[in-house]
Amino acid sequence: MHQFILKAASVGIVAVSAYLTYVGKMDFDIMVMMDMFSFVMFSQIEALSNAIHVIEVVNKTLDKLSKIENAEIIDENAKEVNLNHYDIKFSDVCFSYDKKQILNNISFDIYEGSTTAIVGPSGSGKTTICNLIARFYDVNSGSITIGGHNIKDITCDSLLKNISMVFQKVYLFNDSIKNNILFGNPSASDEEIIEASKKAHCHDFISKLPNGYDTIIGDAGATLSGGEKQRISIARAILKDAPIVILDEATASIDPENEHLIQKAISSLTKGKTVIVIAHRLATIQDSDQILVIDNGRVVQQGTHRELVSQAGTYKRFIDIKESAEGWCIK
Ligand SMILES: Nc1ncnc2c1ncn2[C@@H]1O[C@H](COP(=O)(O)OP(=O)(O)OP(=O)(O)O)[C@@H](O)[C@H]1O
Ligand SMILES: [Mg+2]
Repeated sequence: MHQFILKAASVGIVAVSAYLTYVGKMDFDIMVMMDMFSFVMFSQIEALSNAIHVIEVVNKTLDKLSKIENAEIIDENAKEVNLNHYDIKFSDVCFSYDKKQILNNISFDIYEGSTTAIVGPSGSGKTTICNLIARFYDVNSGSITIGGHNIKDITCDSLLKNISMVFQKVYLFNDSIKNNILFGNPSASDEEIIEASKKAHCHDFISKLPNGYDTIIGDAGATLSGGEKQRISIARAILKDAPIVILDEATASIDPENEHLIQKAISSLTKGKTVIVIAHRLATIQDSDQILVIDNGRVVQQGTHRELVSQAGTYKRFIDIKESAEGWCIK
């Protein structure tokens, strides 16, 4: 905008001086001087305003850097702990991102080796619960324990090495497919990477790419489908082989072939693990050991599909809508 004002002002001076010369109120040589003067002056002002703009950007970046540098280290007083079991317990957890309370007195238990499906309307707090398990945020009150340890008392490293997360939105780096998978376990061998990729049903399409596992995702990004990218992210999680798997099931429609392969990949990932899944598919919900129905930041119902479907309530209404949408009939 300021560039435009400067240019408009210099064009204005040229136009006015030309007019004054035309009507005989200014000498021709003064007009030429005036125009040259305006060009020189405005180009200097423009350079100055550009420099000020650059300084502003640098200042803002430095501010951000110092914020990162001065960020509180959340696990300063925490201990390196090797968890020896993986039961997860929420006790009266309250949480807000800012002022608005998002989770209200949430309590539940997840037993090691079981699958818990979290269901509920959009914005009810499902992703927030998963974020708290991985300690992306700290609870305001109440506690979360894993294997009997309050997650605030153990280092982020000792917590996160036990958790694999597969998000709805796939996070891949602008790097080779191999390095993207390797991120799950940087010390893995090539054989282990291939084994994980086979389990995630992505080995076949990766091998067919001209550069195979060395294909740079950024370059091939356009040619990899959403389902293929999702399977690469699952291969990464399989390679990590963490005992706790947190999964945000995709809501976006993926073609049936990819959907089928993704389901197989997820079965390999979750086999024998403690699984928390934000579930959208009826099959996932029905097969889980426990369902938590979240509404407005509270656990409004809890139990197995069989138990919950026989009660009037949020779950029954939710399932009725799903059934008609998916054309299913559950007995
Ligand atoms: N980083 C954030 N900062 C502030 N508010 C947030 C943030 N993330 C989520 N929220 C708010 O918290 C509430 C719960 O969000 P959450 O993402 O947990 O819902 P959800 O149940 O996972 O919804 P969906 O089914 O749409 O994924 C929403 O009102 C949302 O707007
Ligand atoms: Mg969510």
